[in-house]
Amino acid sequence: MPEPKKLFIETLGCAMNVRDSEHMIAELNRKDSYALTEDVSQADLILINTCSVREKPVAKLFSEIGVFNKKKKPTAKIGVCGCTASHLGEEIIRRAPSVDFVLGARNVSKITEVVDTRHAVEIDTDYDESSYAFGEYRSNPFKAMVNISIGCDKGCTFCIVPATRGEEISIPSELIVQEIGKAVATGAKEVMLLGQNVNNYGRRFGTHEEEIDFTGLLQKVSRIEGLERIRFTSPHPLHMDDAFLEEFASNPKICKQIHVPLQSGSTRLLKAMKRGYTKENFLSRCAKIRALCPEAAISTDIIVGFPGESEADFEDTMAVLEEVRFEQLFSFKYSPRPMTEAALYEAQVDPLAASERLSRLQARHTEILDEIMDAQLSKTHAVYFDELKPQGKVAGRSDDGKLVFVEGSEELLGKIASVRITKTSRGALDGALL
Ligand code: 5AD
Ligand code: SF4
Repeated sequence: MPEPKKLFIETLGCAMNVRDSEHMIAELNRKDSYALTEDVSQADLILINTCSVREKPVAKLFSEIGVFNKKKKPTAKIGVCGCTASHLGEEIIRRAPSVDFVLGARNVSKITEVVDTRHAVEIDTDYDESSYAFGEYRSNPFKAMVNISIGCDKGCTFCIVPATRGEEISIPSELIVQEIGKAVATGAKEVMLLGQNVNNYGRRFGTHEEEIDFTGLLQKVSRIEGLERIRFTSPHPLHMDDAFLEEFASNPKICKQIHVPLQSGSTRLLKAMKRGYTKENFLSRCAKIRALCPEAAISTDIIVGFPGESEADFEDTMAVLEEVRFEQLFSFKYSPRPMTEAALYEAQVDPLAASERLSRLQARHTEILDEIMDAQLSKTHAVYFDELKPQGKVAGRSDDGKLVFVEGSEELLGKIASVRITKTSRGALDGALL
C-alpha cells in the first residue's frame, strides 16, 4: 500500500459547507487514499471551502492563499471550493495564479475531475444529478449530515446564495432514507437534515416525481429503525405551517431545537428583503412553537443595518428579541453582496450606526442567554455523547441542542444518558450522570 496523500481542508461558513467538505473527502478517497492533516506544510492537497455570504471572508481569501503559498510544499496543490469559488470563478486564478483549481459549491462531487487539471474551473450551477450524489465520510462517527435539498429559490434581496448554489432541487426521499440507513448501520444515532430551506422540501425534484413535503419526509425518516435523533437546518419561517410545527412538537425523535431566521423585526424591512412574512406572522409562528412545545430552544439569524434601516426599524428587531427570547443568536452587520438586489439600494446605513446597533442587540441577547442558561441548574437532560474532551470529560448535546460536559470515558460515546446539570455558563453546561 502506498503512503496516503495528506489533505489539509479549511471549511468556512455554514453546515452545508461542512457537509460539502465531507463529500469532497469521500470523493477524493474513492480515487486515491488521503489522510487529513492540520499542518499545511505537510499537505499534498490544500482545499479552502469558502463562504461568500459576507464580504470579509472573501477579502481574507487572497491573503490566506498567500500565507499557504509560503508554508506549503512546492508540489502541493491548492483548490478553492465553495460559494466564493462559484461567484468569482476564473477571477480567483487571475488574482492568485498559484491556485490550481476552482470548484463551485454546486460542483463538489466533481472534485476528482479537477484535482489533477491545472487551472480547471468548474462552477456550473445548472441541475445535474451528480450534484447530490452522497459521499460516504463522516467527520463525527456518531452523527450524520445528510442533504435533503440543494440550492435556494427564495431570492432574499441581501443574499448571494441563490447565485452561488443555484436552483432549489429536492433529493428523492428514498435516497435520503437509504443514506441515513447506511449511517445508522455504521454507528450514527443522530442525523442532521440539511438544506437552504429544509421545510420547502418536495416543491421541485430533478428528474424524479414524488408527492411529499417536509412533514412527510420527517415522518418517513423517523421510521428508520435505530435512528434516535433528527435535527434539521435551516427552515424558513414562511413555510412553518401548523402541520409541520405539530410534527416537530409531537414526534419524539425530532430534537426540540429549531432555527427560525428572523433577519429583521421590521415589517417594512422584511418586505424590502423579500422575506415573505411580517413581524406579526413571525411572532405567531414562534408563539405556536412555544404553545405546542414549551421546552423548545429557538435560535435565529438577524441582520442589522440593512439599507433603509431606521432607529424605529431596529427597535422592532429588539422587540422581537425581547418577546421570543432566542437562545442562540447569529447576528451580522449587513454586507452588500454582488449579484444581489439590496446592494443597489440607495439608503445604505452608516456603518458606525450599524455597528452600534449590532453591539446593542448582542449585549441584550447575552443577558437573555445568561438567564436561560442559569435556569438550567438542577434540570435533567437526555444527552447524546459524541466527543471525548481533555481532562477526563465527555461532551454531548441535550435534546434541545445545549452543549453538556460530564466526567467520563470512551464508554459513554454513542450513548444517550440522563444528566443532572450541576454548573452553568453562557456556552455550555456541566452535569453529573444519573
Ligand atoms: N449581509 C449580512 N448577513 C447576511 N446573511 C446573508 N446575507 C447577508 C448579507 N449580505 C446572513 C443571514 C443568513 C445568514 C446565513 O447569513 O442572516 O440567514
Ligand atoms: Fe439566502 Fe434567503 Fe435563500 Fe436563505 S432563504 S439562502 S437567506 S436567499
